Amino acid sequence: MRFTVSIVLIFCLKIAIGQNPLYIPPALTGTTFNLNMQAGTKVFYDSTKTPTFGINGVWLSPTIIVNKGDSITLNVKNGLNEKTTMHWHGLHVAAMNDGGPHQIIKPNTTWSPSFKVRNNAGTFWYHPHGAGQTDPQVSKGLAGLFIVKDNDEATLALPRTYGVDDIPIIIQSKAFDDLKQIAIATDMDTALFVNGTLHPLATLPAQVIRLRLLNGSSLRSYNLGFSNGQTFYQIGTDGGLIDTPLSLTRLRLSPGERVEVLVNFSGMIGQKVELKSYASEMKNGIYGADTVGFGADTIHEYADNFLNGADFNLLLISIDSATANLLNAIPVSLVPYIPFNAIAASKFRTIVFDTLRLLPADAPNLAEGPFGMNNRTFDMDSINEVVHLGTTEIWTLVNKTLVAHPFHIHDIQFNVIEKSGMSPPPSEMGWKDVVLVMPNDSVKFITKFETFSDPMVPHMYHCHLLHHEDDGMMGSFLVIDTTVTGINETSIENRFSIYPNPTTDELNITSINNEKFSISIFNALGQQLYSTQAIANCKLPFTNYTTGIYFIQISSRMGAYTQKIVKL
Ligand code: C2O
Ligand code: CU
Repeated sequence: MRFTVSIVLIFCLKIAIGQNPLYIPPALTGTTFNLNMQAGTKVFYDSTKTPTFGINGVWLSPTIIVNKGDSITLNVKNGLNEKTTMHWHGLHVAAMNDGGPHQIIKPNTTWSPSFKVRNNAGTFWYHPHGAGQTDPQVSKGLAGLFIVKDNDEATLALPRTYGVDDIPIIIQSKAFDDLKQIAIATDMDTALFVNGTLHPLATLPAQVIRLRLLNGSSLRSYNLGFSNGQTFYQIGTDGGLIDTPLSLTRLRLSPGERVEVLVNFSGMIGQKVELKSYASEMKNGIYGADTVGFGADTIHEYADNFLNGADFNLLLISIDSATANLLNAIPVSLVPYIPFNAIAASKFRTIVFDTLRLLPADAPNLAEGPFGMNNRTFDMDSINEVVHLGTTEIWTLVNKTLVAHPFHIHDIQFNVIEKSGMSPPPSEMGWKDVVLVMPNDSVKFITKFETFSDPMVPHMYHCHLLHHEDDGMMGSFLVIDTTVTGINETSIENRFSIYPNPTTDELNITSINNEKFSISIFNALGQQLYSTQAIANCKLPFTNYTTGIYFIQISSRMGAYTQKIVKL
């Protein structure tokens, strides 16, 4: 097994007044990765110590670089005083290796998922995903890039020397309280960081540079562009490379999204350029725009944050001499893009983003929430959707709130097929795992659930505004294999007794072997009404259901099974 650490120490040359050299997280390569989460302090302001978290250090996380096809092991050691999890955002892995809220890592324990890298070359990332704990742990420093390389990418004329012409750019806005402690659940995220550096300065060579951009912010979207108006070329979306470089002067990046871009600094030695967010151009509803909501339905104190609706600098770039092995042209084509075919879709689902009324007396604010999905908030013990392995599905995301929410789903990559009833913008035509859904708008995507099934351990889908996720704007889905050899629907049927059927008020389900199982109730239209998990037995309430036909779906380690139930 190989385990190497390469620390890139460049960019220490010319520092403008008040600028800090851009930190380049160390790259970890090989097939075994030791990730030690630890707490510490960092001085960001004057001499005040700010408590922080980091991996293999006290602030931020290293960049993991792997090859497609490698079998890797990640030893994630929790050296914090609180429980956590570690999620590989965008990677196609089994639910048990995914690091969602169900794979808890207790303090002083190590979680070691092993899996084969199946994704194509692209820029992914990793961060904690504990129920209700994502925002505080990410904001304190736990987030890193996860770069996948493959043979197709290797044959292209692209910059790929990490830290030299292939630059990680993790953009995060953070809020600090009066004591200069990192604060969450506030709209005063006025401190802008790139790779954990405030007022960053990158000295880059005068040639084609690849930027791997991640929006790792809790809430804020950015509308990226360069101060000299220069064109740049998008070459990748969340899930990997696109087919042809797309020339742009603006690119919007919402929380959780990644893009790879090329920018050509050839012949620009001695010049300085700012990477900026032109937030004044963003539409109402996007966190970071001038306004979110209308009238009384607006975000409280949002207008007090001077970044909202303003154009601001993210990274100062000072252009220096070119390196020896330089690229000075943008490639003409990249990798073939073959999206899923809508003809193959056999299952359709709708996820509605809604504003929840928690108590009858609570007046919800359509811009402030609380928000849910399909009228519910996240519950560790329920399953919201049950997917059959191998199915191509089309999901429709309907946003009934006044905030734009970036929707993210685990396990798979999808193709956006419709935004506001039209084709998606060219910058979103590619492999995606996050898509921003505008207020009172809808998005359709197509995907296929392949490779992994697990009748007990769910994957997540959620809003990637971390505060919304932590507040429960998240759901779970199981991928079940209904064709497992030797485990057919009859064998599972014989393992459970379900009575009485017909029923008037409740239904008893008993596992003959005291198994743990998930159970969902569907109406005749296939809409899910209820779901829970149980060990050995459970009682399902039928009192409030109208007379008619229902289906219950049971899944356990042994497979899945659907039974028709008649309510009298
Ligand atoms: Cu980046 Cu479910 O998260
Ligand atoms: Cu949201």
